[in-house]
Amino acid sequence: MSETIKRTILITGGAGFIGSNFIHFLLKEYPDSLRIINLDALTYAGNLENLQDIQDNPHHIFVHGSIEDKDLISKLCTDYAIEGIINFAAESHVDRSIADAKPFIDTNINGTLSLLTIAKNYRLQKFVQVSTDEVYGSLSSNPEDKFTEDTPLSPNSPYSAAKASADCFVRAFHHTYGMHTVITRCSNNYGPMQFPEKLIPLMILHAQSDKQLPVYGNGLQIRDWIHVMDHCKGVWMAYQYGKSGEVYNFGGNSEYANIDVVKLVLNLLDKPESLISYVKDRPGHDQRYAIDASKALTELGWQPTITFKDGLKQTVEWYISHPEWCSHIVNGEYLEYYKKQYQQ
Ligand code: NAD
Ligand code: DAU
Repeated sequence: MSETIKRTILITGGAGFIGSNFIHFLLKEYPDSLRIINLDALTYAGNLENLQDIQDNPHHIFVHGSIEDKDLISKLCTDYAIEGIINFAAESHVDRSIADAKPFIDTNINGTLSLLTIAKNYRLQKFVQVSTDEVYGSLSSNPEDKFTEDTPLSPNSPYSAAKASADCFVRAFHHTYGMHTVITRCSNNYGPMQFPEKLIPLMILHAQSDKQLPVYGNGLQIRDWIHVMDHCKGVWMAYQYGKSGEVYNFGGNSEYANIDVVKLVLNLLDKPESLISYVKDRPGHDQRYAIDASKALTELGWQPTITFKDGLKQTVEWYISHPEWCSHIVNGEYLEYYKKQYQQ
């Protein structure tokens, strides 16, 4: 290890959307003093192109493997004197969980349990679980109604049920073994390098190539959009300053109905609204998410800084200026998924 590096952190799922943005953020903030071990199974959502510009950075070590593999995680703890773990690795797409919940149980529950077990055995200093606001279920249309950290868990999809289950294990490891754990629960992220099965990148790529934009149901479901970089900063603050055993919500203060997001994308790309196509609704579709992030402000000094309109414009520009990244993603597996998901 170089003389200057003081700390090594295990980041899981670092080839995915948020994990790769997080690693870029950390390497920029701490070019000399942090070393990152990035453990990722490279599922369909993991993409080494997200890490291309840092592949030769000696402070970033990529390890291809699963968070279910306890022997591998133990070896990483021994070989690299890991200080703590930030767990981004997950199966993350609600629609895929509706089609088949099994990989969600394997990674989101069993994988998290493996990480917790090794973190306990090696007495790691910190464990941050990157969770989601979806564990709270769905909100009423009353604008005063928001998710707080005290909102009871009420997951509605197989994805959120698996994430809620993992959160319960994190809580149990804190309570039972006194482990230093923190759970973060964030609303919908958008930004560069998001896999185009999720709403915003899907709509950008379709609009760019004049394909139909599939809006589920009536398009009036509401999400609270947050730029991925604001989320990354929150996770890092939670790692550094979060109190053990606590949960912190992060949100963008940017509630939009899906149909309005789609229209904004069309507008930014100067494409007609006639491309919008209303399709069959998602089963069990949550109506509204909105976050009360006042605890993160009070205890961590965190608040979102990027407005949705600026962030969306910047995101559209990123996709336009990275045609190769986009064309590599839209490969056989993706096309097959797309055909299955959207066939009527
Ligand atoms: P993503 O699907 O883009 O990336 C997930 C990454 O995890 C991929 O690189 C994949 O290869 C990896 N992975 C999957 N299974 C693995 C396993 N068994 N072992 C190791 N790596 C594995 O997801 P994302 O959108 O970047 O989300 C990251 C985390 O943030 C997830 O835990 C998700 O639940 C949470 N989250 C996401 C959002 C959002 O809006 N995207 C919001 C709140 C919370
Ligand atoms: O709230 C945080 C969660 O946000 C994360 O935990 C999940 O990992 C992440 O995928 C996201 O979940 P959503 O289900 O809200 O995101 P998605 O992009 O799949 O959908 C956003 C909204 O858009 C949702 O109401 C469904 C709708 N939608 C989505 C797709 C893909 C459409 O109308 N058409 C589509 O084609």
